Amino acid sequence: MNDNALIRLAGRPDLPAILAFQQAAIAAVDPRSYSEAERGAWWRTPAVGMPALVETGRYLVAERHGRLIGGAGWEPLDTPPEAAVVRAVFVHPDCHGRGLGAQLVRAVEAAIAATGRRRILVPAALNAVSFYQGLGYVPNEIGIVDLDGVDLRYQRMWKYAA
Ligand SMILES: CC(C)(COP(=O)(O)OP(=O)(O)OC[C@H]1O[C@@H](n2cnc3c(N)ncnc32)[C@H](O)[C@@H]1OP(=O)(O)O)[C@@H](O)C(=O)NCCC(=O)NCCS
Repeated sequence: MNDNALIRLAGRPDLPAILAFQQAAIAAVDPRSYSEAERGAWWRTPAVGMPALVETGRYLVAERHGRLIGGAGWEPLDTPPEAAVVRAVFVHPDCHGRGLGAQLVRAVEAAIAATGRRRILVPAALNAVSFYQGLGYVPNEIGIVDLDGVDLRYQRMWKYAA
């Protein structure tokens, strides 16, 4: 149920609209998952390397009535072999809970599978662990990333494609 959002590859002109839905999604994150300082740092740095992700054709966006409402991307990993990492999954809060996030992750998984890669890592925000568990990802260790001088915890999660 996503009111027929179109999923397509992002292009460079989409970057401002991508930043807008990413920051709107972060602004709506449950304060029980991250402190105000942590959410502020994430908001200022929603997704490191977005222009490169778009330039390499590895970021998908969801568009409805000409408006970008979500996106998800991926990058290959060198180790372990045959692995890839899911990047920058965001859905505008106006559209949460309608299956769009799951649709975007499945589209990214299909793009990864098309390259022959079978092991998929998600560095999951703590608020999104249940979302990824519902998609078959299994929690591993906790990681920490420095965003704008603030340490943010995240949950490393793996999925092995059939
Ligand atoms: C996480 C996010 C992408 C989910 O997008 P969404 O479109 O609302 O998700 P969906 O509607 O596809 O949800 C799919 C399933 O996950 C569940 N789900 C979604 N968000 C959830 C959450 N925060 N906690 C628990 N379950 C959640 C839904 O209930 C649904 O379950 P169902 O299949 O049993 O009905 C969105 O909430 C978001 O942008 N969050 C802020 C940014 C973020 O955390 N991104 C992930 C970074 S790793």
